[in-house]
Amino acid sequence: MTVADDAATPGPDDGRTTPSGGTTRPRVVLVAAVADNGVIGRGGDIPWRLPEDLRHFREVTTGHTVVMGRVTFDSIGRPLPNRTNVVVTRDPAWTAEGVTVVRSLEEALASTGAEQVMVMGGAQVYEAAMPLADVQVLTEVHQSPDGDTFYPAFDRAEWRETRREPHNGYDFVWLERR
Ligand SMILES: NC(=O)c1ccc[n+]([C@@H]2O[C@H](COP(=O)([O-])OP(=O)(O)OC[C@H]3O[C@@H](n4cnc5c(N)ncnc54)[C@H](OP(=O)(O)O)[C@@H]3O)[C@@H](O)[C@H]2O)c1
Repeated sequence: MTVADDAATPGPDDGRTTPSGGTTRPRVVLVAAVADNGVIGRGGDIPWRLPEDLRHFREVTTGHTVVMGRVTFDSIGRPLPNRTNVVVTRDPAWTAEGVTVVRSLEEALASTGAEQVMVMGGAQVYEAAMPLADVQVLTEVHQSPDGDTFYPAFDRAEWRETRREPHNGYDFVWLERR
């Protein structure tokens, strides 16, 4: 099923539509850079330097709502400019200037007025968001580094590749849930 079909044919269990066709939650877009071996992180950081990917990430997410785990926020250390920053944490005392704090992914989706949210990791948050994801914007990084944090497994057969931009050492890939 495509996103367009989804909007046209409300389903009872998909969580995005009401019986009248109204949208109840935003479109969920996962944005991630994933190595060939599934690694996305090591020691709280990303185990490669790809300035082109950072530029791509900025282009894809600017102007949107980005949702991230508290660990990923800490690794960046500040809100990302020109985006609404939402941080997920279970710690009721946690705050940071310039971010919206939520206690769950569900709260992040319910509390935003945005039409779509960009889920930008890390692994725990990708894991929680994968079942709800409508689109994945992946940078396939053609390396197999050591790492301690992995992108969640997903069934490629459930996803249609709508665009691929090959580059030297990495591809930008867009996947849409069938
Ligand atoms: N390659 C990429 O594209 C990419 C993107 C992002 C991050 N990363 C890397 O991924 C690593 C971090 O990932 P991670 O999995 O360790 O951490 P994370 O997902 O960024 O953050 C985990 C924290 O978020 C909160 N959290 C997660 N799920 C929650 C839920 N369902 N409800 C409430 N709170 C929730 C908890 O915070 P509290 O402990 O405060 O309760 C948890 O400890 C780093 O190495 C980072 O560099 C890579």
